[in-house]
Amino acid sequence: MIEPQPVAVTVNGARLRRFVEPRVSLADFLRQDLGLTGTHLGCEVGACGACIVNLDGQPVHACLMLAVQADGMRIDTVEGLSESGELAELQAAFHARNALQCGFCTPGILVVARDFIRDCRASGRKPTRAAIRDALSGNYCRCTGYEAIVDAIESVAGAAPMREDAA
Ligand code: FES
Ligand code: FES
Repeated sequence: MIEPQPVAVTVNGARLRRFVEPRVSLADFLRQDLGLTGTHLGCEVGACGACIVNLDGQPVHACLMLAVQADGMRIDTVEGLSESGELAELQAAFHARNALQCGFCTPGILVVARDFIRDCRASGRKPTRAAIRDALSGNYCRCTGYEAIVDAIESVAGAAPMREDAA
């Protein structure tokens, strides 16, 4: 067995050091070592998007990365984005429009939607429904049929800036 390796990461703003076996995925590290179970595991082959987190500003599938590959990087999970208030508008819109049923896909979709809305606002472009669907093309939802999810994201994307954009 290969010995656990030292990993230093910043997770949701907190700097952490852990020893991790090289075979452990980033998703398992977040869920099992750090207790951040908001990152869901569905397919574990990069197809469903339930495990998407933000790594140094980019969405990544945490099931496809090893934890040791994230050494020195910043990871933002759905828990961190929620605690910072960045997801408050999206969460309220999802609730208001019944954009979730079992909720299994929701964390990954929220991470992707937040990045999508941020990019739209940064570029000044108004997102179309087609663009929202394209952004969600890597996220599977087996419950909702996507209409309500797109409704919710569209309502936020066309509204006032998210908290951090307003600063
Ligand atoms: S669990 Fe990672 S994409 Fe499905
Ligand atoms: S709400 Fe159940 S998979 Fe999306």
